[in-house]
Amino acid sequence: MAQTVVSLRGVSKRYTRGRQTIEVLHNLDLDIDKGDFLALMGPSGSGKTTLLNLIGGLDRPSAGELRVGDARLDQMSSAQLTRWRAQHVGFVFQFYNLLPVLSAERNVELPLLLTPLSAAERMKRVRIALQIVGLADRGKHKPAELSGGQAQRVAIARAIVADPTLLVCDEPTGDLDRKTADEVLGLLQLLNREHGKTIVMVTHDPKAAEFATHTLHLDKGRLVEQAAHA
Ligand SMILES: Nc1ncnc2c1ncn2[C@@H]1O[C@H](COP(=O)(O)OP(=O)(O)OP(=O)(O)O)[C@@H](O)[C@H]1O
Ligand SMILES: [Mg+2]
Repeated sequence: MAQTVVSLRGVSKRYTRGRQTIEVLHNLDLDIDKGDFLALMGPSGSGKTTLLNLIGGLDRPSAGELRVGDARLDQMSSAQLTRWRAQHVGFVFQFYNLLPVLSAERNVELPLLLTPLSAAERMKRVRIALQIVGLADRGKHKPAELSGGQAQRVAIARAIVADPTLLVCDEPTGDLDRKTADEVLGLLQLLNREHGKTIVMVTHDPKAAEFATHTLHLDKGRLVEQAAHA
């Protein structure tokens, strides 16, 4: 039987601003299995980023149970979540979020600075991660000296360097042309198929969703459809 990595039961998320409360996610039930590559689609404002941030432990639900692996994220303090994230989740964003003053290598190394690994061991893992994303020869480049696709691959190397089980990606190809987007999506697919990463990816692009194993649609904070790909 497939192993469940992410499980939501009755998860809601509300934001309060002054006297106004808006419920952005309504009572969601969802299971994501180990080895799934889930594409999360839906109109702007439907709650995709909000859901992704809950799954990645960047934010907490207002109600409901949220499990990722053995962890009950809904019961953790924000300090506990921070520690949990560093070990278990890799993040990829639309605009790469690389630090401009650091080389590609140093950017990839960042998540490892929170671990007890030695400098030599860190650099060994950085080199392996850059090799996996096909950028072994760009380690000394600064982000400004990389193309958009290369910058995103460095961001993916940073996301995998601590060997998390889960990758969460928010519109990772939203800023890339078709050909470059397909290369990045092919890399995510490789990480899913060959390296066993469970991936949750928000996208507006139906072609991007074709690289995934499942697609899920959010509409006004509700899940409306779950299709397994052929
Ligand atoms: N911190 C916040 N405080 C208050 N409201 C918020 C907050 N974050 C998001 N929202 C609201 O929650 C709703 C869903 O936002 P979310 O960013 O999850 O949408 P999305 O599906 O990712 O949209 P997009 O495709 O444009 O990125 C929106 O109506 C937004 O205004
Ligand atoms: Mg969003």
